[in-house]
Amino acid sequence: MEKKSTEVCPYQRAWTLDNWIRKLLQNPYKIVGEYIKEGQVIMDLGCGPGFFSLAMAKLVGEKGKVISVDIQDEMLQILRHKSELKGLNSRIIFHKAQPGKLGISEMVDFALAFYMVHEVPDKKSFLIEVASHLKPDGRFLIVEPKFHVSKSNFDNTLELARSAGLEQVSEPKFSFDRAVLLKPVS
Ligand SMILES: C[S@@+](CC[C@H](N)C(=O)[O-])C[C@H]1O[C@@H](n2cnc3c(N)ncnc32)[C@H](O)[C@@H]1O
Repeated sequence: MEKKSTEVCPYQRAWTLDNWIRKLLQNPYKIVGEYIKEGQVIMDLGCGPGFFSLAMAKLVGEKGKVISVDIQDEMLQILRHKSELKGLNSRIIFHKAQPGKLGISEMVDFALAFYMVHEVPDKKSFLIEVASHLKPDGRFLIVEPKFHVSKSNFDNTLELARSAGLEQVSEPKFSFDRAVLLKPVS
């Protein structure tokens, strides 16, 4: 049966999102390192088992914070377990969202939505909510897999982001993915 584009990646497949092959192909420090400074507040939207949350928790240092957001408790539990082992728990806020509402109260310096926007049923409200939590000089990186998300689908997301008050900063290049870096319109 064809996979619906908004189908959520189940927690039973968490291992596919955090393993040595992925670390070779997608070094999280190389992907997000240039956008993050020590002491910042970061939001990892659809964090899954925390492939990026853990790296970002190291990058923000002791004074920074990563808000790791997911709709699946099980994904957050996997991340909590890993971050405990790495001594990073104090830098991470584990936040359970609803599919149609993030429910965050903080303003952030950087937000990441890696392989998640295609799973969100109402992309318009999602992008409006994310935009409302970006600091004026904040940045928002969206990365989507080419094998799930067509060019026209991605362009549609970009259009919705523009109508949510975001503008394109750059188009980071990744072999297997479509990506855009956004910021609030000044
Ligand atoms: C394909 S996984 C990617 C996980 C992680 N970003 C990574 O790259 O390893 C997508 C994740 O987004 C979460 N998700 C889907 N819809 C969501 C929503 N509306 N709000 C928050 N998280 C969501 C899923 O539960 C899943 O853990």
